[in-house]
Amino acid sequence: MVAELVGAGELRSEWRGAFERVARHRFIPRTVWVEDGGRLVPLDRDDDEGAWLERCYANDFVITQVDDGAPVGPGRVGRQITSSASRPDVVAMMLAALEVEAGMNVLEIGTGTGWNAALLAERLGAGRVTSVEVDPDVAGRARRTLLGEGHAVTVLDGDGVLGCPSRAPFDRVIATVAADRVPYAWAEQTRPGGRVLVPWTTDFHNGALVAFVVEREGGVPMMRGRVVGNVAFMPLRAQRGRRASLGRHVQGVDQARLSSTDLHPSQAIGEYDASLAVGLRVPRCKLIVSHQDDGGYTVWLVDPWSGAWAGLECAPGVEKFSVRQWGGRDLWTEVEAAHGWWEGLGRPAADRWGLTVTPEGQFVWLDVEEQRIDR
Ligand SMILES: C[S@@+](CC[C@H](N)C(=O)[O-])C[C@H]1O[C@@H](n2cnc3c(N)ncnc32)[C@H](O)[C@@H]1O
Repeated sequence: MVAELVGAGELRSEWRGAFERVARHRFIPRTVWVEDGGRLVPLDRDDDEGAWLERCYANDFVITQVDDGAPVGPGRVGRQITSSASRPDVVAMMLAALEVEAGMNVLEIGTGTGWNAALLAERLGAGRVTSVEVDPDVAGRARRTLLGEGHAVTVLDGDGVLGCPSRAPFDRVIATVAADRVPYAWAEQTRPGGRVLVPWTTDFHNGALVAFVVEREGGVPMMRGRVVGNVAFMPLRAQRGRRASLGRHVQGVDQARLSSTDLHPSQAIGEYDASLAVGLRVPRCKLIVSHQDDGGYTVWLVDPWSGAWAGLECAPGVEKFSVRQWGGRDLWTEVEAAHGWWEGLGRPAADRWGLTVTPEGQFVWLDVEEQRIDR
């Protein structure tokens, strides 16, 4: 795995030693979850050690908990991923972006397996890493593993949204869980000049990594940062929002408003820069794609709060798409308008967006803070 990351230019030399010394499989639980025909099913080390080890050393995330740890039973299928070991290339990229130096005091939000915390501790030394995990079972397991592997990391049970005031100030904060609304406590608990790294999401878009720098303005902590990478993380527990489901939310198909569009849905949804921008303008909109046997697929936009939905049929070779919309919002019309807005701005790439977090809340800007975007 390390050779692969080095070969692909994804592991910086200053992190290589830590990746070699901290064996990932030691942090992965005996039962992990794998996708099988669109369902999540358990894979146990005792049943197939080879397959389990392959998962541990693939450049991929490993699902270590589903449905907040609801017990595994015969024939049980998982629904929602609630803890995982992150992709090694993403971990390497985020650790590089954190720009740590020996002796720094670092806070991690979302301990998970403890692997990332161990890598940090390997570079920073004993007693320098604090990690907060909301799930007490996950926290307990990581604490035991870290201790057993000889890493002096403080793992605390709790809500990472609150940070960890008792161990502040920090030089760096790294969230390995995504925030839609970035907690102000992370700015408050970081020294001026310190960095805070946050995977930032919207209901519509999977996420972008924002690297903040903390400042004091008139003595008041605040932070501003820019998008520096493409990452997708599970949301903070309190920011999970609502799950969209075709069965529960797609009602009234016969009464839907019909129209058509020339904009291929993949241009607004599948293109990273475009979908990041669309997510800024279209709140409370979740995506589901259902595939048909003939190679066609339907893109569903669902607002699980109001029950509004839109469906776009996509068949191979077709350039005009039929649209059905239902409920109190015309979700596709909103997405199309947001895409037009992004085009009107000159199709900005993700790294032109910035985010500022103050005691009053957060706001998004393009290129410079003065070009503030009203969401
Ligand atoms: C992607 S995993 C973290 C991966 C981890 N850093 C590792 O090395 O394995 C995200 C973790 O964040 C945790 N989490 C979710 N919401 C949280 C919150 N509000 N505070 C702290 N942890 C949270 C989840 O329980 C999950 O274990």
